[in-house]
Amino acid sequence: MLAGLETSLSDQLDKLFMPVRRWGRELQISAYAGSSNEGVESANNANVPSYNTDTEEGAPDKKVVISLKGITKVFGPKPNAAIELMERGLTKEQIMEKTGSVVGLKNVNMEIYEGEIFVIIGLSGAGKSTLERCINRLVEPTRGEIVVNDIDIRALEEEGLRNFRRRHIGMVFQNFGLLPHRNVLDNVAFGLEVQGMPRERRYAKARDAKELVGLKGYEMAMPSTLSGGMKQRVGLARALATDPAILLMDEAFSALDPLIRNNMQEELIDIHEQLRKTIVFVTHDLDEALKLGDRIAIMKDGQVVQIGTPEDILSNPANDYVVNFLNGIDRSKVMTCESLMKRPELIIPLRTGPHTALKMMDDADQDIGFVADRDKRFVGLVKAGDLLKAIKGKYPLKAAVKTTVRAVQPDTKAEELIAILVETDYPIPVLNEQDALVGIIHPGSVMNKVRPDNGEIAQGAEA
Ligand SMILES: Nc1ncnc2c1ncn2[C@@H]1O[C@H](COP(=O)(O)OP(=O)(O)OP(=O)(O)O)[C@@H](O)[C@H]1O
Ligand SMILES: [Mg+2]
Repeated sequence: MLAGLETSLSDQLDKLFMPVRRWGRELQISAYAGSSNEGVESANNANVPSYNTDTEEGAPDKKVVISLKGITKVFGPKPNAAIELMERGLTKEQIMEKTGSVVGLKNVNMEIYEGEIFVIIGLSGAGKSTLERCINRLVEPTRGEIVVNDIDIRALEEEGLRNFRRRHIGMVFQNFGLLPHRNVLDNVAFGLEVQGMPRERRYAKARDAKELVGLKGYEMAMPSTLSGGMKQRVGLARALATDPAILLMDEAFSALDPLIRNNMQEELIDIHEQLRKTIVFVTHDLDEALKLGDRIAIMKDGQVVQIGTPEDILSNPANDYVVNFLNGIDRSKVMTCESLMKRPELIIPLRTGPHTALKMMDDADQDIGFVADRDKRFVGLVKAGDLLKAIKGKYPLKAAVKTTVRAVQPDTKAEELIAILVETDYPIPVLNEQDALVGIIHPGSVMNKVRPDNGEIAQGAEA
């Protein structure tokens, strides 16, 4: 098994070599000015920087902007009878047979945070569109509570609902929904026109939105002359023009060619970084979900099966359905070093004498030590054997430290890490932006975690 693993790893070296060059940080510290080896700091004083593995619930800075509680939707003639049967545990098909009604959503609860891209994914008919449309009551839930930006949406009357939609929500659909007889600028300005904004102002805003999505020079073009990607840019610009806090996107990129789709995903990420809008993005494409989603909700038969960050879902799939759903995806493209690293147990200050350093490593049962300077910046690695030589030759610790070391960041993807591991023979330091050591990755621990649960090696690691 291990031999197989090694072969597959080296096989991909060639492929992965480029990313290493780009992302793996080569640390080269050629000279240490002014540090001496007399002062010895104890291991306990070596301040280990804290790192944050908390990616989910409980983080205090996350404001809930969309809250859905107990949302149930029944399409058809006998909603109450259908709900009763649903509560008795009958299947969707049985309920359909007995009542002629379709259960679209079944007691869905979720909270969406301000500024995140929240992806809803599931197979066709899972209830993704129905759920998304409940947020602005384009679909009227049969039961449940919806609060958006502290507004109780279900309590709104017609006029209030209309205002809410205009002010708070932008929508982007798969089929673009452009007005065929209006040019690009008028399409983009449409939402503002509906809001009653004077012509000059709405054109100014529409121009801003248009530039944001890369439609410069297309103002006067008619929709029929545009490619799919361009049409969807118009759709996106139109949704952004009214500056809504929330964007609802339903399979917005699904009709596009793979290459264009990829571009649009990248651009959406860029736009999101600039504007930090809350985006609820419906897709049936797992790669798209993993690429875009800060968090993902997986739906099945009108219910939410699991909600979490891509890493949460990959490392802790809620049940077999999720495991199967995720099967075949390449975890190494999603998992990051943060979830693969161990907290450093021992950091040796550069000023430590080689004797003491060796004792510290021995006490910690380590053959390799991680050395940091006074400012806690990572300096390099030291091996026990080199310390022995330093003791014998009466050199300071710094002479024994290997400073040309490949390092990664907490958000480096496992894919890049693996490429580094195949050409190194030491644990990989994980450094934060200040170059402080926040974690250590032991090569042996990686493949187990990057492998999917069915025991096969992740697709990308084998290919
Ligand atoms: N207007 C409607 N009338 C009757 N049933 C509906 C209606 N809209 C949706 N449904 C049903 O509700 C369920 C959820 O549909 P929904 O369109 O939300 O699924 P979806 O996950 O968006 O699927 P897709 O990926 O195909 O778009 C399906 O069984 C669907 O047939
Ligand atoms: Mg749909």
